[in-house]
Amino acid sequence: MFSFSISTSSKESLYSDLLTALKELLSGESDPIANMANVTALLWEYVPDLTWVGFYRAVRSYLVLGPFQGKVACAKISYGLGVCGTAAATGRVQCVRDVHTFPGHIACDPSASSELVIPVRGKSGQLIAVIDLESANLGRFDKADVDGCVRLMTEIGPYLE
Ligand code: SME
Repeated sequence: MFSFSISTSSKESLYSDLLTALKELLSGESDPIANMANVTALLWEYVPDLTWVGFYRAVRSYLVLGPFQGKVACAKISYGLGVCGTAAATGRVQCVRDVHTFPGHIACDPSASSELVIPVRGKSGQLIAVIDLESANLGRFDKADVDGCVRLMTEIGPYLE
């Protein structure tokens, strides 16, 4: 059984504790899919108000659904399409306050209102995946979430390839 010490008293402490827990958890395992699965499980358990969290892996010319928590989702997304495909094509974080205003947003789960997608890079800086966090709350993700998740993905990216 695993036990983690995660403080949810502030977003800063939440993401800092998640980083400590994830580094410990992932450093003992070399399989990227197993590690992605545990990342989604931990975020799903501790990050409040999510309707979906998961990876889309960069496989040839598509993003392909990877480990996730939440409802069934579309299996493949072309680069440039939707929030995830835009993050992959531009290499830039997409923090979307209201997904209904995002051109080409792909609504796998109709309850989602806001979305945060972070490109995930491997050891040599190449794109290996994006992580997608979704919430039913409008404007759920702010700068503290962006900074916290970017730091998480920067530090754990090498364990996910
Ligand atoms: N909303 C995402 C698609 C993935 S899912 O909804 C899980 C997008 O617009 O890229």
